[in-house]
Amino acid sequence: MDWAASSPLVDEDHVQQLKEQGWFIIDDFLPEELAVSLRAEAKQAYEDGKFSQHRFQFGSGTFEKPSIFEADLHDETLQEPLASFAELLFEESLGQRLNHWWPELALEEGFRAKTLKVQRNGGQGGCFPCHYDNSGPPSKRSITCLVYLNPDWTDGDGGELVLHPFLEPDIIIAPLMRRAVFFRSDLILHSVRPSSAERFCFTLWLDGPTNSREDVNLTAKLLRSELETVDFLKRSPVQRSVSRAVNSELYEESLLACMSGMPGCDEMLQGHRQHVTQQLAHPQLGPFVEFLRSFTCSETVRLCEPLTADVFRRKQDWARRRVDFAWTLGSNNNHPVRSCRVVWKFWIDDD
Ligand SMILES: [Fe+2]
Repeated sequence: MDWAASSPLVDEDHVQQLKEQGWFIIDDFLPEELAVSLRAEAKQAYEDGKFSQHRFQFGSGTFEKPSIFEADLHDETLQEPLASFAELLFEESLGQRLNHWWPELALEEGFRAKTLKVQRNGGQGGCFPCHYDNSGPPSKRSITCLVYLNPDWTDGDGGELVLHPFLEPDIIIAPLMRRAVFFRSDLILHSVRPSSAERFCFTLWLDGPTNSREDVNLTAKLLRSELETVDFLKRSPVQRSVSRAVNSELYEESLLACMSGMPGCDEMLQGHRQHVTQQLAHPQLGPFVEFLRSFTCSETVRLCEPLTADVFRRKQDWARRRVDFAWTLGSNNNHPVRSCRVVWKFWIDDD
């Protein structure tokens, strides 16, 4: 498999988007033939029983994620049945390309600095609640690259990835065949909507020097209700320390969508609410969280059909200007008022 053929598609403009907003998309990331054979390989491996039920840790317990099955390519027994995917673990060109355009990323080389998982969503409501791929130490994940392998996906099948950039409009991304989504693992909160159709994808995580002290610690100096702090948090992984409280409804809704009625759901809901209540009760943190909440917006950008980069950029810039405009209108002595929460939607795939 010629993985190296896809890496040159990552250009300076994409990396600029990664720096400015924390994510970018490339449609047609894989050659058609390669994508078709990868899907066939993944499907065959699943039917041969090579995938495991997705499990995750919460508190002291381990829980199963309904309808989600995956194969971790660090498991050597999977490197033969999923040989084409395994090659990607040993392919350096993608990380080198990103490092070339953004040397400060300093992505590490070698297969130990990567994680590759192939995933099957069984389509019976399988989804993921809001999370960061790198939620803090000891994770070293720096960049997430998700590639979708669903030639027949159609509106209504669900399973869309939703990016929730901090205090920015949500981005709803359809899991289209050959579409790649890159984002900063420590900066982009995201979730997956319930899927009603079988869905395949694979994810490559590239490690780098993440979680420095400045990325992790919310210092007292930052607890100022000022617009500069908002701008700083949008671009800093330190947002993770207040994300759950700021977006508490979003977390709760996505948790219920994924886990309602399943073992562990009540504990998770309780843990979430307890965390939020504690932060809100804190004398300095509470008012700061309320301040940040006044910036949350209900705008949505929806990416369903494949897009040209130009159209995508134009629409996205327009969305951001609309939000900035709303904030400007609603500002009063640097304190935005809640009335600036305009509710509107536009469909980026309309033209
Ligand atoms: Fe994720």
